[in-house]
Amino acid sequence: MFKRTPGTKDILPEEALRWQAIEETTRAVFSLYNYREIRTPLIEEASLFNRSLGESAEIVQKQMFLIKKEDETFALRPEGTAGIVRAYIENNLDKTSGFIKVYYTGPMFRAERPQKGRLRQFHHIGCEAIGSEAPYLDAEVISLADNLLKAYGIRDYETKINSLGCAKDKKALTEGLRAKLEPKLDQLCADCKTRYNQNVLRVLDCKNEHCIEIVKKLEIGENYLCDECKGHFAKVKEGLDSLKVNYTVSPYLVRGLDYYTRTVFEFIHGALGSQNALGAGGRYDNLVSELGGPKAGAIGFAMGVERLLLVTNHKPQVTSKGLVYIISLGDEAKKAGAKLLYLLREAGVASDTDHEDRSLKGAMRRANDMAAKTVLIIGEDEIKKGVVTLKDMASGEQKEIKRENILEELKAYIKLTC
Ligand code: HAM
Repeated sequence: MFKRTPGTKDILPEEALRWQAIEETTRAVFSLYNYREIRTPLIEEASLFNRSLGESAEIVQKQMFLIKKEDETFALRPEGTAGIVRAYIENNLDKTSGFIKVYYTGPMFRAERPQKGRLRQFHHIGCEAIGSEAPYLDAEVISLADNLLKAYGIRDYETKINSLGCAKDKKALTEGLRAKLEPKLDQLCADCKTRYNQNVLRVLDCKNEHCIEIVKKLEIGENYLCDECKGHFAKVKEGLDSLKVNYTVSPYLVRGLDYYTRTVFEFIHGALGSQNALGAGGRYDNLVSELGGPKAGAIGFAMGVERLLLVTNHKPQVTSKGLVYIISLGDEAKKAGAKLLYLLREAGVASDTDHEDRSLKGAMRRANDMAAKTVLIIGEDEIKKGVVTLKDMASGEQKEIKRENILEELKAYIKLTC
């Protein structure tokens, strides 16, 4: 028997309802902020990610699913930002739209060791605002993410922010850190020894206890930031205060992707265990020009849907009118039931019936499993009387309705109970 590959999930119909609820809320919140949807391919040239995320990024070094075809190498996208920036440039959106605000949902792929909250195929909900360096935009984007989490019914998360500064500041931070860490190099874990040479900033978010102790004593302030970046960060914080976003500034928040500059942020949830980030993002003011586009400031974030679902029971909005389930018993009734189903669906009423020849009791159980709000029963008695029995599943109340009036009465009834 075949099994799904490790680190992937089947989202079965019951769970898919929870996904739909998250997706519905996502679309509603993004449209409030005037974001429009973008869909980019699942495969891209592998070098797009090498250039964007950086050769030393863990994703590029260890986690890309690569596909070699003749002399080309493609990658299953490990994240959405690089592809969207590629699309922004390739489709000349800088010329036709200038500043854009886009959101996306969809699968991402990383060849990681699977564990709770860490999959090989997982899903992002994310957004990118491209074409502005304004600090108020950073505040708006972080507040949007904050409001999204609240709309999903998630509480008890922590919002951490930091500024990495411009490319020059990042370099100063990198050099300063190297100098401070050099005397302690032999006390760092094996991974951090490699990070020291390749991407020393990552030492700051190492999870090893010894490294955490060493890093705590380094006293990293905002000193590496130039005046302009300090001013930018101050305005971001002011903006967040005025939008009433709860946050803490963490100098240890650095993020693992090369493209980040200035503001970075992360949403942490205690119930998630070691993979504790619900989502994260930041500015990437140089990526558009580095990939061949114009100079355009940009910022965005992505949330991991599987992780959101671990900490919320966000319920599907009651589907507009609720399902109507028809139970018809006997040949004659089945014919009448099929006709009624046709009429209901034509009138835009979500409806279904039992296709398994169950008894009344069995079919009622099935209606209950399907979360039907209304059941219509057609048995021998009903056929004789020319009626249908309507049962309200919430109250248990039943009443008979004349067959010829069913559509109008049902529509009025559904409106009443919504
Ligand atoms: P990221 O931090 O790599 O950022 O991913 C964002 C979120 O995706 C994480 O916080 C986590 O919730 C989820 N995630 C990441 N890897 C996995 C995994 N293996 N299994 C399950 N969930 C996972 C980015 O990808 C950036 N593109 C975000 C961004 C957009 N920055 C600017 N714009």
